[in-house]
Amino acid sequence: MLATLAEDGDALVILDQTLLPYEVVERRLTRLADVAHAIRSMQVRGAPLIGACAAYGIALALAEAADDAALEAAIALLAGTRPTAVNLHWALQRMRRVLAPLAPAMRAAAAWREAGAIAREDAAANAAIAAHGLPLLARLARSRQPQPLDIMTHCNAGWLATVAHGTALASVYAAHRAGLALHVWVSETRPRKQGLLTAWELAEARLPYTLIADNAAGLLMRQGRVDIVIVGADRIAANGDTANKIGTYLKALAAREHGVPFYVAAPLSTIDFSCPSGEAIPIEERDGAELGAPAGFPVANPAFDVTPAGLIAGIITERGICRPDRLRDLAP
Ligand code: MRU
Repeated sequence: MLATLAEDGDALVILDQTLLPYEVVERRLTRLADVAHAIRSMQVRGAPLIGACAAYGIALALAEAADDAALEAAIALLAGTRPTAVNLHWALQRMRRVLAPLAPAMRAAAAWREAGAIAREDAAANAAIAAHGLPLLARLARSRQPQPLDIMTHCNAGWLATVAHGTALASVYAAHRAGLALHVWVSETRPRKQGLLTAWELAEARLPYTLIADNAAGLLMRQGRVDIVIVGADRIAANGDTANKIGTYLKALAAREHGVPFYVAAPLSTIDFSCPSGEAIPIEERDGAELGAPAGFPVANPAFDVTPAGLIAGIITERGICRPDRLRDLAP
C-alpha cells in the first residue's frame, strides 16, 4: 500500500488521485495554494484525507507568514475549497484552536505537529473502525457459507480516501485478512468514477470484486445478490442523516426495499453535532463539465446526497457500531 500523504522535510507529498488508476504519480506540495488546488481539483479527496491535508496546508501557510491575519486567510482559503466534507472544517477549527493562542513565531512548528497528530489519529480511528466492523461481517459471512459474502459499496471509502486503512473498506480489508470469503460490488460512481479507485485498491489487495454501473445496484439487490451495503460519509448530522457521494441515497432506498442492511462507516471527525439534520448539510455543486455533456447543455452536478437516518442500520465509528438515533451518545 502506498501512503496517501507523507511529510518530506518542509513539504507535503500526496498521491495524485485524478490520475489513478491509470498512473501512480506523487506530488510535492510546498505552498498553501498547492494544497488548496489539490483539494479543489480532487488530487486529494475523501473526507478524512481532505481534513488532514488541509491541516498541513495551514502549516505550509504559516511557514511564510504566521500573524493572525495570515492564519485566518489560510483557514478561509481552505474552508472555501469543498463545502460538504465536514472533516475539512473540523480540522481547520482544530488548527485555529491550537494555533491562535500562540505567539506567531511558535505557530509554524506547532501547526506541523498538530497536522501530524490529525493524520495519526485518523489512521488509528480507521483501524478501530475495522475492528468494530469485523464481527458484523463475520456474522453475516457465516450465514452465507459456503457462498462468499456479497458486499456493495459506493464511491471510494478505502485507504485512498483517508490517511490509512479507509472507513467503509477498513472492515472489508479486516475480514479479508481474517480469511472470510468475500466479494465486493463496486459501483462506478458517476461522474468522477471514484469506483475505479475502489476497484484499484481491491485489486491490489487481491480481494474479489466486480465493477458495476451505478444503476445496476437496484437490479442486483432485487436478485438477492447483495448481503450488505457499506458506504463512507462526508458529514453526518446529529440526528444520523448522512451526506455521502451522490447516488448513496438511491442505494439506501433500494436496500430498504429489498431487506439488505445498509451501514455507514466513519470516524467521529465526520459527525457534525452542530448540524441538527440532513437539511442543514451544504451540498457541493461541482462544475457541470464533469458530466461530459457538450458545451451549452444545461446540467446540474450535485456531488453529494443525504441518506435519512431511518434507512441506516448502523454507523460504524472508532467507538463501536451506533444506531443513528443514538448518535448523540457519542457527542464530546
Ligand atoms: O468527492 P469525493 O471523492 O471527495 O467524495 C468522497 C466520498 O463521498 C466518500 O464516500 C467519503 O468521503 C467517505 S471517505 C472515507
